[in-house]
Amino acid sequence: MSSRAHLSNGGVDFIAEVVDGALVVRYWGKKIGSQIAQYSFERSIPNSDFDSIQNPGVLREHSRGWMGYPTLSGHRSGKAWSSHFEVTEFKSGKDFLLVKFVDPAISLELELNLKIDSSGVIRLNYSLLNKGDEYALNELVYWLPLSDKARESLDFAGRWSNERNPQRRGIDVGRWVRESFEGRSGHNFTIGEIALTKETNFATGEAWSIALAWSGDVRYCIEKNYEGAQSIGASEILAPGEIILAKGESYKAPELIAVYSESGLDGLANRYHQHLRARPHHPKKMRPVTLNMWEAIYFDHSEERVRKLVDVAARVGVERVVLDDGWFGKRRNDRLGLGDWQVSEEVWPNGLRPISDYVASKGMEFGLWFEGEMLNADSDVYRNHPEWILSEQGRTPPTWRHQLVINLANPDAFKYVLDSISKVISEANVRYIKWDHNRVLVDAGYLGKAAIHKQTLSIYKLFKELKGRHPGLEIESCSSGGGRIDFGVVDYVDRFWVSDNNDALARQQIQRWTMQFMPPELLGTHIGPTPGHQTGRALSLSFRAATALFGHAGIEWDITQVDETELNLLKSWIEYYKVKRSLIHSGRVVRVDYPDENHYLHGVVGEAESLFAYVQLQPIKTSHAPNLRFSGLNREKRYRVTTVEPAGQVGMMLIQPPKWLKDGVEATGAALIEIGLPAPILQPAQALLIEIKAI
Ligand code: DGJ
Repeated sequence: MSSRAHLSNGGVDFIAEVVDGALVVRYWGKKIGSQIAQYSFERSIPNSDFDSIQNPGVLREHSRGWMGYPTLSGHRSGKAWSSHFEVTEFKSGKDFLLVKFVDPAISLELELNLKIDSSGVIRLNYSLLNKGDEYALNELVYWLPLSDKARESLDFAGRWSNERNPQRRGIDVGRWVRESFEGRSGHNFTIGEIALTKETNFATGEAWSIALAWSGDVRYCIEKNYEGAQSIGASEILAPGEIILAKGESYKAPELIAVYSESGLDGLANRYHQHLRARPHHPKKMRPVTLNMWEAIYFDHSEERVRKLVDVAARVGVERVVLDDGWFGKRRNDRLGLGDWQVSEEVWPNGLRPISDYVASKGMEFGLWFEGEMLNADSDVYRNHPEWILSEQGRTPPTWRHQLVINLANPDAFKYVLDSISKVISEANVRYIKWDHNRVLVDAGYLGKAAIHKQTLSIYKLFKELKGRHPGLEIESCSSGGGRIDFGVVDYVDRFWVSDNNDALARQQIQRWTMQFMPPELLGTHIGPTPGHQTGRALSLSFRAATALFGHAGIEWDITQVDETELNLLKSWIEYYKVKRSLIHSGRVVRVDYPDENHYLHGVVGEAESLFAYVQLQPIKTSHAPNLRFSGLNREKRYRVTTVEPAGQVGMMLIQPPKWLKDGVEATGAALIEIGLPAPILQPAQALLIEIKAI
């Protein structure tokens, strides 16, 4: 058994070794270049300390001198509380590590599988096997040591319609914890946790990040202990008794994704994106322009009204239309009928097939909304099966949007949801489903035990079954907007609804930071109505369109009420999106470290062309704004820079624009990066699209 492993792939190195039977991770960061077999990592022993060097390693065991938060916690009726695992197998290659640990005294075995892919992204899997009597697992945390260069943490907080607000703070002694107890990842869910140097910005500096592939309750920690050791960790939060392993049973912890960047937050984002894009099931088909009807018609369904919308959608070039909430049971408002997945004869007397066929006859796909994990108390399904909800001690959990949660771990409930939804999908030839999830899970018990773990696995299973039964079916993960965006569900869905807030100004920041983890092609970005239904703010079409362009674009607006001029602009914007989507959905996301906080300069950079948006968020106090420096370009190449206004004129506050705006300009990448171009003065809430093509 060789005792040191030095993995290297995609520009990232990872060094681990076995010391006194424990697994110690020595390094995770930038590629070192050569193997360092002889390197000495051994530290001193300070005053007032153990008499010999302790190596608690990644398992952070009490029995090996660790005094902080452990990796594994659990017990057998109060016993087996402290482990002392020994590494019994240690295999490694250039890009993988397999470690088996055994603690015969407490009859537990643990296995760690780790792999680095060609984009430098590490995936880790722990699995715990119980070989003794029943073992109650409290928590199994993935801990990775963090370089002492990391001085700050970055994560995201939010609420409904205002997701992913960045919070950056210093790392000090203690533990910074971000956790979700909602039974779903949630609007306040950070998606991943990031540690970075003080200097790290979008373009430069080091960053280390982790993301757990799980949509239930999750804990992220960044810790610095009194010895100065820093680490970053993540785990599934388990309720008491939620996982009790019988003899021979295992717990597979949700996978951890660990990403390092030496080139700032953009480097980090692009490693996440590359990694997701390399999955065999990453959406391959061009992301179709989508018209979602929610903000156009809400619950006011009628075939006639929807046909009119479909007609206009087809005229402007939409490729997929999605009928949202309200088509089933007695669901004429949000208090009724949820869970009754039968087409309403009241509003759809001919069923959904005619409208679906009509959509298909116009060359578009038909999509439909479901919220299969939920029901209203006022629904047939609940009247017939009140025992199907997640609940504890016969209590009914407090309702939220008048709804309760169906227990998908109950085989009968699972079968009902799967079969009834599947039937509608077949009958109405549904090619795409928007899957909603509009409440948190509280007091979520099944047979007297906590059930969020099982519910999370069940929804993955349901998505898998639906896709298996309906080949080619795409699923959008929505949870009252961006309440279920995570690295667990991403493997089952093809799109995320980023936020219920379609206000473009709010969307600029929500999309900017959701893209820290998820690539633009997975993010649903719609042109909403004006004034915006959430904020009441009126915003120009050109700004709304430039904002919606950088994602899986669509419209969510009653376009039957839009005048010809705006319809023509929508049409030209859709044509533009169709031309640019292969770039936007494959290029590198760049967020320029623009010197003024009232603007964003962001874009997508490809080999031959790039597309940037210069966004004026607020007015500035000086007459001129800083130059537009396009980081991310190739310094050696020559480029032609022009602007484009596919959805109408951008509002400016100028007597005369900078010359390049009118004529375009040619320059080297180096000049565009270092000198940049003079910025025009835009009105607030305006965005100018800038094309940069290699010549
Ligand atoms: C919340 C979603 O986020 C909206 O887009 C819409 O689908 C409604 N639910 C429907 O009830």
